[in-house]
Amino acid sequence: MEARPAVDDAALGREALHVLEANWMGSATVPAPGLYPHQWSWDSAFVAIGLARHLPGRGMAELDGLFQGQWATGMIPHIVFHTSEAYFPGPSVWRSSEHADAPPAILTSGLTTPPLHALAVWRLWRHTADVGYVRRVFPALAAQHAYLATARDLGGGGLAAIVHPWESGMDDSPAWDEPLAALPEIRYGYRTPGLDERHPASDHDRYVWLALRYRDAGYRPEYLRDEHPFAVEDPLFNGVWLASCQALAALAPVAGFDPAPHAEQAAVIRAALMERLWDGCFHARDLRTNRLIPVTTVAAFGPLLDPELPRHAVTALVEILESARFMGATGYPVPSCEIRAPQFDRTRYWRGPSWVNTNWLLRRAAAVHDLPHLVQLLTSSTLRLVRQAGFRECFDPFDGSGRGCRDFSWSAALTLDLLADTLAA
Ligand code: GLC
Repeated sequence: MEARPAVDDAALGREALHVLEANWMGSATVPAPGLYPHQWSWDSAFVAIGLARHLPGRGMAELDGLFQGQWATGMIPHIVFHTSEAYFPGPSVWRSSEHADAPPAILTSGLTTPPLHALAVWRLWRHTADVGYVRRVFPALAAQHAYLATARDLGGGGLAAIVHPWESGMDDSPAWDEPLAALPEIRYGYRTPGLDERHPASDHDRYVWLALRYRDAGYRPEYLRDEHPFAVEDPLFNGVWLASCQALAALAPVAGFDPAPHAEQAAVIRAALMERLWDGCFHARDLRTNRLIPVTTVAAFGPLLDPELPRHAVTALVEILESARFMGATGYPVPSCEIRAPQFDRTRYWRGPSWVNTNWLLRRAAAVHDLPHLVQLLTSSTLRLVRQAGFRECFDPFDGSGRGCRDFSWSAALTLDLLADTLAA
């Protein structure tokens, strides 16, 4: 554990705001200075959630910056490039400017990430009651959801498929090992300084190859459905989508729209999650083999965000979460992969370390299911992590030491939210 002076709640909150101030670049917050110098989609949703009580106007501006990058298809890209700062894979890889559906005035990637944005807008609405804002952004959110329901239901069963590990938000999760291993051996030798140590070179080359294939197919949904070699239904992505559908249903009357289609979409996702991804726990489905991917990761708990998830599934998931497979055996939960899995690695990115954003999502899930002891445990252990190691990207689940970037925006933003709840309690 690296030494860090103990800080009280007020000082921790000030430090978090300071990080978010330093990472704000005028139209968006970068995830971390240096390594991630542009706007990342679900990072921005977490930042907006964290700012909702403190600087809601900035939270709104954050999402506005992201929505500028939305494609005419409704797709919200996983990266929006507001500046020309070097990053790989950057605009020359994605070539959004050559695509008729991409926004003309701003460069973006061609992939998406977990659709947390409606939930973020709902949080902003709850803390501001700003009807004008909700009316303004509602169409963008509805278009994003319509895109997922049509272009991304590649399995035809009511779930949205991810077509690249980067779309999961858990880039290097062991859940993607099997589908990646089925791809051809690729040797490009592209490297990203600072990110290289996170995954083997062969995986990185496959990531790039997958992105180029999709790009060269014109980002067409028919290509994704019929040919693209990576297509996976992920429980975290779909659990987040379901929660955002419920948020849209709550926002619809504020914006003057009918909530029913969004509530119905949530019901479709819930039924599909149980039918397609449930086997006593939630596992991702590889649509190319039509098999569930057996490794259990923190993504399994994504559907817990749904207050209407069947009771037996809630009970089973909470038992697994609290067991020695996840929270029970680690001092600094929640590990991103179950610790008894052969793929578990306490030091490697999404293959073991604990993350503030997944802890926050699980804490919300615990609140939704009225599990105060779990809310309390997740709050205190997450605050302990950042208090001791700083706003790091992720943390060793056994000793709490920080890993990855420093001054990581979502770690700071969600700390603000946790602190506000602690003070309010
Ligand atoms: C990494 C993470 C992803 C995040 C991005 C920017 O790629 O896996 O979830 O959005 O960094 O922080």
